Amino acid sequence: MATVLITGGTSGIGFSLAKEFAKKGENLVLISSNQENLEHAQTELRNRSKSEITIIQQDLAQLGAARQLFEKLDRDIDILINNAGFGLVGETEKINHQEDEALMLLNMVNLVGLCKLILPSMYQKGAGKILNVASVGAFQPGPYTATYFASKAFVLSYSRAIRYEAKKRGIQICTLCPGATQTNFFSKEQTTMPKDAMTADEVAQIAINKLMENQSVIVPGMKNRLMQLFPEKLKMAFVARRKAGEIKERNK
Ligand SMILES: NC(=O)c1ccc[n+]([C@@H]2O[C@H](COP(=O)([O-])OP(=O)(O)OC[C@H]3O[C@@H](n4cnc5c(N)ncnc54)[C@H](OP(=O)(O)O)[C@@H]3O)[C@@H](O)[C@H]2O)c1
Repeated sequence: MATVLITGGTSGIGFSLAKEFAKKGENLVLISSNQENLEHAQTELRNRSKSEITIIQQDLAQLGAARQLFEKLDRDIDILINNAGFGLVGETEKINHQEDEALMLLNMVNLVGLCKLILPSMYQKGAGKILNVASVGAFQPGPYTATYFASKAFVLSYSRAIRYEAKKRGIQICTLCPGATQTNFFSKEQTTMPKDAMTADEVAQIAINKLMENQSVIVPGMKNRLMQLFPEKLKMAFVARRKAGEIKERNK
């Protein structure tokens, strides 16, 4: 039985990943900033499977949070899924500085921290997998959602680099780049969910299958893969138009 740690395992893509791993009989360690959400997810998962479901409350948008979380762990992690993240939309000078810092701490700094803290035990065993969740936003800059897209570009670049390092030592590191997915993500960033968003269950199933095949960069959905063939300038203009429209709507 593997132990799978999922940050942001209480909702959306993270919870769907948790359901899939629980179905396979793996033991889970779920992390989120909210105890109530954690207990709710734990109950749901216990009703569905016999897997051991451990929950740990940790706000990963704080400096030093990866180490704090690591110190709370009482077991080795076989599969690390760095999934927790959020987005912010607005003109960069108008986005609250503290919120932007929290985004960068959650989406990048503590993701790196967890990789650095958990990799050594994986290297010792000569086995382990890491799945870092980026986004299709990693493939081009995102006007009016600048730090979010930049954070995901960072995740993709960092994950590909450490995959190269880890390969010779028996560890697999993959990056998941979902497109729009039906989760709380959009309500949290106060935007509208695109009509063609995939379900979180679909994304999670593809992610786990491809993680098991050790695919370096996983982009679920044909449309999301085709979109990457468009020139970067066009993709940026598309993002800018969409996000500027969202800001206008919000300010009405
Ligand atoms: N949905 C999309 O369209 C989409 C597309 C591309 C990439 N992604 C990426 O997919 C990942 C998962 O997002 P989602 O769409 O599933 O959104 P979601 O439903 O909002 O889930 C986010 C998860 O992260 C946790 N989280 C948020 N802030 C946290 C913090 N400070 N400390 C610890 N945990 C925290 C949340 O739990 P608590 O609130 O209980 O802390 C929740 O479990 C993110 O990295 C996101 O950037 C999403």
